[in-house]
Amino acid sequence: MKQTLVFLHGYPLNHTMWNPQREALQSKYNVITPDFAGFGNTPARENLSMESYADDLAAQLDEQGLEKITLIGFSMGGYVAFAFLRKYPEKVQALVLVDTQAKTDTLESRENRLKQVTIVQERGVAPIRDTMLDKLFSNHTKQHHPEIVRIVDEMIMTATPEGVQTALQAMANRPDMVEFLPSIRIPTLVFVGEDDVITPLDAAKLMADRIPNAHLHTIPNAGHLSNFEQTQAFNSALENFLTTAL
Ligand code: MLT
Repeated sequence: MKQTLVFLHGYPLNHTMWNPQREALQSKYNVITPDFAGFGNTPARENLSMESYADDLAAQLDEQGLEKITLIGFSMGGYVAFAFLRKYPEKVQALVLVDTQAKTDTLESRENRLKQVTIVQERGVAPIRDTMLDKLFSNHTKQHHPEIVRIVDEMIMTATPEGVQTALQAMANRPDMVEFLPSIRIPTLVFVGEDDVITPLDAAKLMADRIPNAHLHTIPNAGHLSNFEQTQAFNSALENFLTTAL
């Protein structure tokens, strides 16, 4: 039976952000790309936390009879991956953290998220799209790959306002995971786009330093959305890791 890879998307995106990895890996692996509530194909629900998104994943795995997975979490998907690993450690055999962080929000970024909740209530998802599109990509991608920016623009606009508000609240309330890092004892790969301004290199280094069996891989010419901006470099590092870790 094929090994299962579960890819968790970021905010305010959906499972299609993993299309380049699905295409490259699905002949060898059982690739699962769930959507968090309110994104992609999953209906919105209120009052969620990183732990409840993790519980949704655990229920989905149980339904499919999947006991062991490799967990790959991008940004908010990384926050959920930490929650999942803390609650269901026996289910995870390898971990890939992509442009994410273990630290929780500063007071300022927490307040900013709560302001954004009000903005979405009043004006919908479009203002969030504008802010995110500005920060997600490297200058290289913005200049040379406008088609990538367009695809992600459309992806963000499919998010429901309810899903976006719930995710903002859940991220604002998420626990700090820095103290949890040394207890992660499985093979771990940490990716970061070299021009990531949302979860920069320092955040990736901190995770790679504190997780005992972790390696750091920097992706040149990529911003936050490294898997989508530099597909080949990302996929080849991921495949190498999977071959040795599994
Ligand atoms: C994401 O890409 O999932 C979000 O930007 C993460 C965050 O805002 O902390």
